[in-house]
Amino acid sequence: MKAITFDKFGGAEELKYRDIANPVVKDDEVLINIKYTSVNPIDWKIRQGLFKDRMTHNFPVIPGWDAAGKIAEKGKNVNNFNVGDEVYAYTRKDAVSEGTYSEYIAVPSSFVSLKPKNIDFAQAAAIPLVGLTAWQSLFDIGKLQKGQTILIQAGAGGVGSFAIQLAKYIGATVITTTSTANVEYCKKLGADRVIDYKIENFSEVVKKAYPQGIDFVYEMVGGQVMADSALLIKKGGVIVSIYLPLDKAEAKRLGIRSEYCFVRPSGEQLAEITKLIDSGKIQIPQIEKMSFKDAARAQEKNRQGHTRGKIVLEINP
Ligand SMILES: NC(=O)c1ccc[n+]([C@@H]2O[C@H](COP(=O)([O-])OP(=O)(O)OC[C@H]3O[C@@H](n4cnc5c(N)ncnc54)[C@H](OP(=O)(O)O)[C@@H]3O)[C@@H](O)[C@H]2O)c1
Repeated sequence: MKAITFDKFGGAEELKYRDIANPVVKDDEVLINIKYTSVNPIDWKIRQGLFKDRMTHNFPVIPGWDAAGKIAEKGKNVNNFNVGDEVYAYTRKDAVSEGTYSEYIAVPSSFVSLKPKNIDFAQAAAIPLVGLTAWQSLFDIGKLQKGQTILIQAGAGGVGSFAIQLAKYIGATVITTTSTANVEYCKKLGADRVIDYKIENFSEVVKKAYPQGIDFVYEMVGGQVMADSALLIKKGGVIVSIYLPLDKAEAKRLGIRSEYCFVRPSGEQLAEITKLIDSGKIQIPQIEKMSFKDAARAQEKNRQGHTRGKIVLEINP
C-alpha cells in the first residue's frame, strides 16, 4: 500500500511517500480502507521527537491517528461490523508505528464507529481525535454541568470547534478566545462570548463579567495564558488541560482541581458523537482539503498554530 512514513525524528523533509506492506488483521481487528485522514498537532510533534520519552516508537513510523473509510476485512472475533461499512476511528495504539497517512490501517473494532450518515468521508476524518478529546475532557474528566460557565481557550482549533459545541449542548455558558480572523467562526459554533485575544485581554474581560469566578477552564495554549486562566476559576472549580497540566501545588493554592487529559480511543463515545451529528446537534468543523502527497506542507501549515477547524488529507476518495 501507499503510505507516508519517516525513519527518524526531524523536520517535514523526513516525510516520504512510499510503498509498504499491507497491515495484517488480528482476530479482534478491522482493516479500514482509508479515504481521508486529518492532520493534528500531535502528528508533527511526534515527527519532531517531542513524545519520544513518553511513548515507544517503532520505525518506520506512519503518522496520523484519524481515519474515515470503509471496512475492507475483519478478524474472526468481530461481530459488530461488516465488510463495506462506512466508519471512522481514532486509531492510537500503545506504540507509535502504524498510522493513518496510509491506504489501510488495522485497528481493534472497539476503536471504530459507523460514520455519521449526513456527512462525507472528508468531514468524518476531521472528527475522531478532536471530538473524543473534547468529550473526554469536558464530560469524563471535568464533569461539566448544565448551568456552569466555561472558558475555552483556542475555540477556533480542531478541539475548540468541538468543545464549544459540546459545552453548549449540555447547557453551559461558553466564553472562548480566538484571533480576529476567527471571531465569526466561533460565534457560528455557538459561543456566548467570543474574546478576540488580539484586541482584548481575556483575563480582564472574564474578571469583569464574572467577579465571583467561573466554574471551568479548558486549556490548550499553555504559558502565561494557562497561568492567567487558572486565576479566573472560583474555589472548587476545575482547569482541564490538554497541552501542559497546571502544577498541582498551584491548583491547591488556588483551591481548584487541575486535571490533564490524554485522549484515548473509544468507538463507544464516537458512536455518541455520531448520534449528535446525525441529529444536527453538532456541526462539523470547517475543513481544508489537501492531497495525500502534500502531507509535509499540511503538517507545516498546522504547526503555525492558526488552523481554523481542521486540515484533512485525501488518501483514496
Ligand atoms: N492531550 C491530548 O489528548 C490532546 C488532544 C488533542 C490536542 N491536544 C493539543 O491541544 C492543542 C490544540 O489542539 P488542536 O487540535 O485544537 O490545534 P489546532 O487545530 O492546530 O488549533 C490551534 C488553535 O489555537 C488557536 N490559538 C493560537 N494561539 C492562541 C492564543 N494565544 N489564544 C487562543 N487561541 C490561540 C488558533 O486560533 P487563532 O488563529 O484564532 O489564534 C488555532 O485555531 C495542541 O497543542 C494539541 O497538541 C492534546
